[in-house]
Amino acid sequence: MKQTDIIPFYGGTHPELFEIERRCMDREGKVIDELQQLLPNGLVLDIGAGNGFTAEKLQTTQRTIIGMEPDELMIDCTKQVIFTKGCAQDIPFHTHTFDAAYSTWAFFFEGITDLDKGIAEMKRVVKKGGPLIIVDNYGEDEFCALSDRPITSSTNHWIKRGFDYHIIETAFIFDDVEEARKLLGFYFGDPGMAVEKTRFEYKVAVYTALNE
Ligand SMILES: C[S@@+](CC[C@H](N)C(=O)[O-])C[C@H]1O[C@@H](n2cnc3c(N)ncnc32)[C@H](O)[C@@H]1O
Repeated sequence: MKQTDIIPFYGGTHPELFEIERRCMDREGKVIDELQQLLPNGLVLDIGAGNGFTAEKLQTTQRTIIGMEPDELMIDCTKQVIFTKGCAQDIPFHTHTFDAAYSTWAFFFEGITDLDKGIAEMKRVVKKGGPLIIVDNYGEDEFCALSDRPITSSTNHWIKRGFDYHIIETAFIFDDVEEARKLLGFYFGDPGMAVEKTRFEYKVAVYTALNE
């Protein structure tokens, strides 16, 4: 794994902010519920698993999630998840190992990474017919409107690559305005520091394909 393959992420050095992010984004658990429905039983790979928040929730007696994460500082060994170090461009598993793979807000960002390298690796390690799922920002919502630069995924990029998509309408819900300002100010600067409420509508795109 090359250091240059890793997208720098704040979560390892600011775990207290990442804790707010994970607790408050999609607070009602709509994305987790959707992934529960879409994922098969068996062995599933979480690409860019972060601290294992999502993987731990998706694990069942019939489904084992392997959390693959390149940044050691992100890995939370207190979680009931099997972690491995690795990155999307070079997945450290044999061909056709997994029944499915998914990635939530990690690596697959157009313009920042080589999407096709990651998609090719995802396809290599998943069995034929297995689901491939990418979760990212959809945009056109109160949360993304706070940013002065584009932070939405491009549906066209995924459609061109054979994925369908649907939208989940969820929300960032903070405990109080101070907590909202802490995280949104960190993300967006002044517009985030100036917020005066605790709930922000947030649309999430779920891109899905079956491995050929
Ligand atoms: C926004 S966090 C999302 C974490 C987790 N998927 C979640 O939903 O909580 C992005 C994660 O992608 C990881 N990452 C960065 N570069 C990566 C790469 N090349 N391949 C896989 N993951 C990567 C980061 O270390 C970070 O943990």
